[in-house]
Amino acid sequence: MSEINAWLEAHTGRFEEELCQLLRIPSISADAAHREDVARAASWTADQFRAMGLATEVIPTAGHPLVYAESDPVEGAPKVLVYGHYDVQPVEPLEAWISPPFEPTRREGNLHARGATDDKGQMFTHLKSAEAWLKNEGRLPVQLKYLIEGEEEVGSENLHRFLQEQVERLSCDCVVVSDCAQFAPGQPAITYGLRGICYYDLKLTGPNRDLHSGSFGGTVTNPAVALARMLAALIDDEGRIQVPGFYDDVVPLSEEERRQLADLPFDERHYLDEIGVDQAAGEKDFTTLERRWARPTYDICGLTSGHQGEGAKTVLPAEASAKFSFRLVPNQNPDKITGGLRAKLEELRPPGIRMELTSSHGSPGMLAPLKSPYVQAAARAIEDAFGRAPVFIREGGSIPVVAAFQKVLKADVLLLGWGQDDDNTHSPNEKFSLADFHRAIKASARLWGELGRLGG
Ligand code: BES
Ligand code: MN
Ligand code: MN
Repeated sequence: MSEINAWLEAHTGRFEEELCQLLRIPSISADAAHREDVARAASWTADQFRAMGLATEVIPTAGHPLVYAESDPVEGAPKVLVYGHYDVQPVEPLEAWISPPFEPTRREGNLHARGATDDKGQMFTHLKSAEAWLKNEGRLPVQLKYLIEGEEEVGSENLHRFLQEQVERLSCDCVVVSDCAQFAPGQPAITYGLRGICYYDLKLTGPNRDLHSGSFGGTVTNPAVALARMLAALIDDEGRIQVPGFYDDVVPLSEEERRQLADLPFDERHYLDEIGVDQAAGEKDFTTLERRWARPTYDICGLTSGHQGEGAKTVLPAEASAKFSFRLVPNQNPDKITGGLRAKLEELRPPGIRMELTSSHGSPGMLAPLKSPYVQAAARAIEDAFGRAPVFIREGGSIPVVAAFQKVLKADVLLLGWGQDDDNTHSPNEKFSLADFHRAIKASARLWGELGRLGG
């Protein structure tokens, strides 16, 4: 390892430059205007694998392409699937960025750019670690199968299809994913749970055009009022979601896990100060970490209706719409939840209002078993590179395909987050710590060695 580590230290500058090349490509998967850029990010990633001498393919899908690359099989050693994504979220509001989102800029030890942490920077660590092995040892201690997609930020629909069709090709002993965060600066973590998600677009329509609110107000249902009432009725004063059957399949937290979460050195004051909120809130009888990681939640993500411009316009809008989501915990079924939601909204829909509900991003939550030799190997690799043993945490965000990896490939999933909670994921001024970037490459290189010793 010392030879590999020395080589990694000698090449930090090049790794950063290469990551900057990828970060300059505005691969926004949700925006059709960036289709060519997304394709460019795929071929840039594929070129990296080819330069490493791996068998590489850019695989077209009905949406954005997949990049697949494979190293040679290693007799008697595990097969490891490495998953990540090269697509990024949109960048609005642009004026809030200190440096432009696609001009990577170093400030205070961080690299700022859209995709720096989510997920280009994190994913890239697993390429450089393999390159280190190949350059120094001429071989890898495990077979690596890289699957890097361009649609994670839009729900991974085409990857789900590919996974069903390619079970043989993707077969592996464990899956490595770096697309989440450490517990805190200086405290690395292994993540053993992700929430799932159901995302909706609800559109309410009333009169056939915007009306004068004086002439017509009070005689027909106002779609904006209807929307506000319906959305508010989906949650009660104690933070319980009012969709029939919503909690039926939720597995309660064990006392042991509640204790473990309570034992984490979580600084609630710091958490709130950092996001500028004076007081925590949420479902009654749960702690902030429980609410954040292990309880299902409801969030309105966007609201649109009526006059948004300057001044007051007395109008009764013809329509109102909202985007909202439920985060799910393991064992909740997205389709069942959507069924219950439809019934509830139908019941809440007032007279004179038509309703259209579309759902997207349905993916279940997951829990990874901790009693796995792969997890132990990852813990050793992380401790070696970060100088501190990882703590075990859950994550409130979602990585849609991960539960499907568990189910279809029957492989253990290692969620090794290299980011930080204040990385501004999906927000202006996204960043990734350069020190963590290089530590993570070391941890990844060590991980291949540790996994290689486990046998296949
Ligand atoms: N990498 C994130 C998930 C994540 C977010 C992990 C924050 C750790 C902290 C992933 O790219 C993501 O944004 N997922 C989406 C999925 C959705 C678009 C279906 C999410 O969680 O909103
Ligand atoms: Mn991500
Ligand atoms: Mn994301």
